[in-house]
Amino acid sequence: MTGGKFMRIAVLRETADAERRVAATPETVKKLIALGAMVAVEAGAGLGANIADAAFTDAGAAIGDRAATVAGSDLILAVQTPDIADLPGIASGTMLAGTVSPFTNRARTDGYAAAGVTAMAMELMPRITRAQSMDILSSQSNLSGYKAVIDAAEAYGRAFPMMMTAAGTISAARVFVMGVGVAGLQAIATARRLGALVSATDVRAATKEQIESLGAKAIFVDAVKGIEGEGSGGYATEMSDEYKAAQAALVSSHIAKQDIVITTALIPGRPAPRLVTDAQIATMRPGSVIVDLAVESGGNVEGSVVGSSPLVHGVTIIGHRNMPSRLAADASALYARNLYNFIAAFWDKDAGLKFAEDDDIVKGVTLTRGGTIVHERLVAA
Ligand code: NAI
Repeated sequence: MTGGKFMRIAVLRETADAERRVAATPETVKKLIALGAMVAVEAGAGLGANIADAAFTDAGAAIGDRAATVAGSDLILAVQTPDIADLPGIASGTMLAGTVSPFTNRARTDGYAAAGVTAMAMELMPRITRAQSMDILSSQSNLSGYKAVIDAAEAYGRAFPMMMTAAGTISAARVFVMGVGVAGLQAIATARRLGALVSATDVRAATKEQIESLGAKAIFVDAVKGIEGEGSGGYATEMSDEYKAAQAALVSSHIAKQDIVITTALIPGRPAPRLVTDAQIATMRPGSVIVDLAVESGGNVEGSVVGSSPLVHGVTIIGHRNMPSRLAADASALYARNLYNFIAAFWDKDAGLKFAEDDDIVKGVTLTRGGTIVHERLVAA
């Protein structure tokens, strides 16, 4: 192990179900060492993303088991942070950064506080320009949007592009994207590249222009006002009953003509909005495919099941768990860079990692410090 002038950074092997990603790559290990850190990687951490232990060793990391990796570390990196019980020997004052999900697993965060761990939830990164390169939601959603289209194309028993052949013409697939955030935009772009006829909808008015600039048709509720501009921080809120009724009518008339539907709609801190009903699915042509990217947050589609792909009225409803993990190598590379950018932004070349407590980014992600819960959204909860 080389470097280590300032601190020791540990990288865990993920243990969550269906999690193939890793929080560092040989590239980011080298960069962390160049900053002046010592890096320890848990054996097998990169295997799900096709990174052998030897590649981490070549980059300068030490390989060891979980206990050896955690022991003496100042900062622990994970994709999905484990419960405190699975961090044997972790010292009070250790920093832990990854996806923590504090609102759905409060007990885990309480465990970090009790152990004196400084837990940082990277998924709460504020949406400010300075933090864009650290935004794990964006980097991972982009890949999810791409993969959703690829999964749909695989399950669809027809081709996406129009083809004119000697045996006759095949018409282009019609793809409808619901929810045009980071994942939705990439889904539109990917479906267009495959030659589909693409349409898309959202509640935020700002997305209309984005949809059209990608060569897709914008399908919007006109009778009731949606969210003007981007919405707060780029996020949507729960819509009025009047809006929901108008949206349901619009979707009903449009969806019957669609072959593929990709839903990505999320509302922070709330269950995903229900956008497609069983009755609407029944109007689609048999062989059509729906991909519900919001399935783990309650689902946009009636009948979608986490980790399963049921056939309903002849329509396949794909509900993969952890979509980014299905592209583990690329997802890890981007996630690892997000973490590196976060660390590098607070690195002082003479003193190492220094988090200013009043910094917007630090305040935004820090859940626990000094034995207590410090995040405003958790203190209020
Ligand atoms: P998200 O994952 O929270 O939601 C996905 C999409 O679903 C959003 O576009 C949302 O408006 C839409 N949606 C919610 N309820 C809906 C409903 N009932 N019907 C139809 N659509 C519905 O959003 P995401 O992808 O995380 O980001 C949204 C926007 O945030 C981006 O397009 C971008 O403008 C902005 N952003 C800004 C960043 C920065 O400045 N650092 C980083 C990332 C995103």
